[in-house]
Amino acid sequence: MKNDLIIFHISHLVTLSGENALRCGKDMRNIEIIKNGYVVIKDGIIEEVSSGEGYQEYITEKTQLVDGSGLLMLPGFVDSHTHLVHGGSREHELKMKLEGYSYLEILNQGGGILNTVKGTKAASFNELYEKAKKSLDIMLTHGVTTVEAKSGYGLELDTEVKQLEVAKALSKNHPIDIVSTFMGAHALPSEYRNNKAEYLKKVIEMLPIIKANDLADYCDVFCEEGVFSLEESELILSSAKRLGFKLKIHADEMVALGGATLACKLGCTSADHLMATPDEEIKCLAKHKVVANLLPATSFNLNKAYARGRVMIDNGCGVSLSSDYNPGSCPSENLQFVMQLACLKMKLLPEEVITAVTINGACAVNKEEQIGSIEVGKYADLVLFAVPNLEYLIYHFGVNHVKDVYKRGELVVSNQQTVYREEK
Ligand code: NIG
Ligand code: FE
Repeated sequence: MKNDLIIFHISHLVTLSGENALRCGKDMRNIEIIKNGYVVIKDGIIEEVSSGEGYQEYITEKTQLVDGSGLLMLPGFVDSHTHLVHGGSREHELKMKLEGYSYLEILNQGGGILNTVKGTKAASFNELYEKAKKSLDIMLTHGVTTVEAKSGYGLELDTEVKQLEVAKALSKNHPIDIVSTFMGAHALPSEYRNNKAEYLKKVIEMLPIIKANDLADYCDVFCEEGVFSLEESELILSSAKRLGFKLKIHADEMVALGGATLACKLGCTSADHLMATPDEEIKCLAKHKVVANLLPATSFNLNKAYARGRVMIDNGCGVSLSSDYNPGSCPSENLQFVMQLACLKMKLLPEEVITAVTINGACAVNKEEQIGSIEVGKYADLVLFAVPNLEYLIYHFGVNHVKDVYKRGELVVSNQQTVYREEK
């Protein structure tokens, strides 16, 4: 039994209260900010949310009291697109990038994803576990309490399973909850270069094994020029759908191939990247309530155009924002930087940015009933920020504003503090 907890006198308590559903278009601005708020937590679940002094009637001798004066509270962030578990790193690609090689050129020369495939195959379960755990710790200290993690650096059954088992073990042992996605169709392994049909067959054969061992809830495909075509993506995703997987798709990251329309046709939970998505397909995403999962730190790192988040919201889309943390196109776990980029480069309002990483992020992993807002009955996944107001969180960019993080009512990050003594 966990201790009861009350956080009171919170200067700005952002609840995101409302329907447990994707917030679209103008609704993304309605986040509800309570001044001088409090949250009562019992057994890791939120029992009451209000303002003023009413919290006092909930105090018992077991209650832990936390003063939230001068702080901003948000629901724990959901990072709904990451490639968390992988071996090695790719800093050597930096020079190639500076020399003008594109992401796809590096991949087609056997580098990029295929390089990380080698590193992931070579790494033991424990090595992958420890490396991913470090990244999860960074995410947690930046306010993330739920993460989606994809496989896709094995491209054969054993290594795909190894990645997904690492994610499963971490979800059990680490404060962050992990939602897993199978992404066998992330790249074409070199040995299948002349026989793509055979590899597609292999991926389809892996699906029932992944399902039977309960290793992933979602299936994802890299639908991209020179990677997997629209037809190949449909083949994989529709096979996965028949087996009961929920679906995601990497769509329009470099070239518009119709991936967003395919997401609507197949009922994908989210379509991700969308940097090159044309107007008609944006409207299609809005109509079908497919989450538009945008990853601006990838645009930043690849020096590419940003997804048209402003246009998407103005056309009624429900947008979420994620890190895309991976060793190639986005080697950073910092979701606060992603939020700042979304505001500064995509022209999202701070309120829309908050919706995108909380309730809409929860929708991108179908967990909107449990997380994504600070409301009675939801998990007490709560983050306290040492900032005077919401705008400040975006305005003062590139640094970590988190003070404390609670996962299901348990303090898991406390007071980021230096340890030197000031000479005066
Ligand atoms: O989302 N685009 C495909 N997958 C990742 C990159 C993976 C990698 O480069 O290792 C992405 O950008
Ligand atoms: Fe990705």
